[in-house]
Amino acid sequence: MSGNEMKYIQEAFDTNWIAPLGTNVDKFEEELCEYVGVDHGLALSSGTAGIHLALKYFGVGPGDYVFCSALTFAGSCNPILYQYANPVFIDSEPETWNMSPIALEKAFEWAKKENKMPKAVIIVDLYGQSADYDLLLPICEKYDVPVIEDAAEALGATYKGKKCGSFGHIGIFSFNGNKIITTSGGGMVVSNDEEAIKKIRFWSTQSKEASRYYEHKEVGYNYRMSNICAGIGRGQLEALDSFIRNRKSINLEYNQLMKSLPIAFMPIDDAGEPNYWLSVFTIFSKHPSIREVILDEFEKNNIEVRSVWKPMHLQPLFQNYHYFRHAEDVSQSLFETGICLPSGTGMSQDDIRRVANILSEVFDSVLIK
Ligand SMILES: Cc1ncc(COP(=O)(O)O)c(C=O)c1O
Repeated sequence: MSGNEMKYIQEAFDTNWIAPLGTNVDKFEEELCEYVGVDHGLALSSGTAGIHLALKYFGVGPGDYVFCSALTFAGSCNPILYQYANPVFIDSEPETWNMSPIALEKAFEWAKKENKMPKAVIIVDLYGQSADYDLLLPICEKYDVPVIEDAAEALGATYKGKKCGSFGHIGIFSFNGNKIITTSGGGMVVSNDEEAIKKIRFWSTQSKEASRYYEHKEVGYNYRMSNICAGIGRGQLEALDSFIRNRKSINLEYNQLMKSLPIAFMPIDDAGEPNYWLSVFTIFSKHPSIREVILDEFEKNNIEVRSVWKPMHLQPLFQNYHYFRHAEDVSQSLFETGICLPSGTGMSQDDIRRVANILSEVFDSVLIK
């Protein structure tokens, strides 16, 4: 927390707006839109809820197809199943680990031939780095399919000077506890399309028709953000740029301390500046169980590290859906060799050095054996 969160929560209490609407909700939407450079935003209970209603806005229903980045968290694609539609997973490119334009083009060619054109493409900005929109957007435009930008992990990141979240027809953010800013749990949909946000607002508040009594013609959801959580969001947003600076310096420090190890940090594309949400690396070593040895060693030291997301096409839940590869299988190899390091804004120099030392010791012991 940055300090001002309690001030905004107190305002909600003082004005007795303890509800999923109020000044904090309105202001959080306004302030975030201004930061990202989009016209309209709607604060919701989660990023997943945002993706769900974005899919609904593009008419995704039973039997439809939706393309989605394979290397992501399940929150990106679970909503495709909520709508009883079929996800089609698209591999990563090695340059940014984001959606591969080559795999995307292959998927579209297949869809055209099989008459399975998707109703939307969900492009993820992974680990706080923008996808390559100069290559991806023209492909989606060529086939006239709208883009939902899943910028859940990438608030504050840029691509060619523009903020992530502003590239899709609809963008979504997450403020889950682990994200670069948090509202404890929450999300936001953003768009320059006013009608889209209006419709999503309607669905997110139980689809109440304009009437003196409660009248419903469409199914609705209880997906709005509370005025208390939005107060936390306002305080957090004020500190976002300092959080990004902090995470960048953690990343640079890790790079410096680990430069002699047989690892490579997630490549950073010149086209943009990530928000450095997580510091992630892949291992070169041919040792067959090196990743497990590293994970075990950190666990023994009571330090939480995680493997890179297990790609969605390898998940038991999604394994029967179509998947399109880059050339070699990039996302699977990133999963098999990738590790996310502790990257929290509150890390001290000692914490960073401790992490680096443990990793060096693991490699020393494995290489000596
Ligand atoms: C890439 C990605 N998409 C979607 C989500 C879902 O967001 P939420 O947890 O707010 O529902 C997350 C994170 O949780 C995420 O990392």
